[in-house]
Amino acid sequence: MVAPLKVGIAGLGTVGAEVVRLIERQSSALAVRCGRAVRVVAVTARSNAKKRGLDLRGIAWASDPLSLAKSHEVDCLVELIGGVGDPALSAIETALKSGKSVVTANKALIARHGVRLAKAAEARGGALNFEAAVGAAIPIVKTLREALAATSVQRVYGILNGTCNYILTRMEQEGLSFAECLKDAQRLGYAEADPSFDIDGHDTAQKLAILASLAFGTKVAQSAVYAEGISSITPEDLRAAAELGYRVKLLGVAVRTPKSIEQRVHPTMVPKSSSIAQVMGVTNAVTIDGEGIPPITLVGPGAGGAATASAVVADIMDIARGVCTLPFGRPVERLHTTEKAPMERHEGGYYIRLLARDQPGTAAAIATRLAEQKISIESIVQRHPNGVDLAHISGKSSPVPVILITYATYEDAVYRALKAVQRDKVISGRPQVIRIEKN
Ligand SMILES: NC(=O)c1ccc[n+]([C@@H]2O[C@H](COP(=O)([O-])OP(=O)(O)OC[C@H]3O[C@@H](n4cnc5c(N)ncnc54)[C@H](OP(=O)(O)O)[C@@H]3O)[C@@H](O)[C@H]2O)c1
Repeated sequence: MVAPLKVGIAGLGTVGAEVVRLIERQSSALAVRCGRAVRVVAVTARSNAKKRGLDLRGIAWASDPLSLAKSHEVDCLVELIGGVGDPALSAIETALKSGKSVVTANKALIARHGVRLAKAAEARGGALNFEAAVGAAIPIVKTLREALAATSVQRVYGILNGTCNYILTRMEQEGLSFAECLKDAQRLGYAEADPSFDIDGHDTAQKLAILASLAFGTKVAQSAVYAEGISSITPEDLRAAAELGYRVKLLGVAVRTPKSIEQRVHPTMVPKSSSIAQVMGVTNAVTIDGEGIPPITLVGPGAGGAATASAVVADIMDIARGVCTLPFGRPVERLHTTEKAPMERHEGGYYIRLLARDQPGTAAAIATRLAEQKISIESIVQRHPNGVDLAHISGKSSPVPVILITYATYEDAVYRALKAVQRDKVISGRPQVIRIEKN
């Protein structure tokens, strides 16, 4: 008989409580699949008195996460507290340095300290598993680290934040403003009271940094990710995108370029026919373009107690089986540093929405400025806001939306052209620019 794997869980909130329940509910299946039992022997959280709807009889209560990490009764520490610093960080580091294995769902901590923690795991031969940190139940970490280990990944991109996708979906389907949809998301518990971490793209950036490391062997670093949020997107943009055959999604994109690995998070127009464009509401999705194989898209719940627990427990099961893969799929010394990609050199198609003054010479001025920067136009939509074509209204002086889709060009060329158009005083307000990602 192989001895049970003795698990200590730090954090009994949304995810931690579900992990305890899942291990209890699936105990027989876990034992069969791992060849040994998986037993929760100790737990800890901030309050010992809180009612959690858990049966913790026979399970020790550790005074704090650090003592749980040090406990000789524990083989595997499961960190479900959250946060980039202590107590999560010191608990994980202590456990790894004593040769224990660790499972965590903490994307913020892995994005900030992943390299340091992977080094500690490697030094003592313990596992550091973090499947739930990106996309919760979507098995994207293992897919990149193990299933596609033999494939040269060219690009990995996805919808990694359910809050943003929920907001953009409601805006598109109901024509509502960003502010209205955000308020609803907060009411329904999809967005935090302070939503900036989600809507400004930082949550997606942390997850993308982890995916880039797994896909390309970069040293995980959120600072290497360009991030831009969704608050500037308007219902008009979504309507225009739809008319032109696109949808707008907040994408995290990591792509191999001739010079480096470009990591960026921003609102992105994707063709309506693409798999990623079909992903609505709080659902997450990741697409991987690997050399020699058609794109692979994984879709599923990117948050929630049960979904996250499913990935956490699968990570624990690997440890019970004795499977120990290097945290980022390569030795830490083989991971390479990347810098934040200079977005002015980003190459791609662009959506540009201008408010053009209804006066003679406007169209010619815009065309000239774009041509000066060698920007070619793929399509142009010029409509009166009420749907009447410009050609049929003359003499009106209110500005008219003009929407342009460019062929691939450089970002600095786009902004140089738009600055010149603004100087020409043929448009009102600031132009809206959204990058296009082709599939
Ligand atoms: N929720 C999701 O859908 C989801 C999805 C993917 C990843 N994750 C990640 O999973 C982790 C846990 O998230 P969660 O939603 O379960 O968080 P949560 O509901 O806020 O739970 C956090 C738990 O940590 C405990 N805790 C906080 N500070 C502590 C301290 N100083 N010492 C000991 N225990 C402490 C809390 O104790 P009390 O209960 O006593 O307050 C609580 O049990 C985070 O890293 C998060 O990013 C969550």
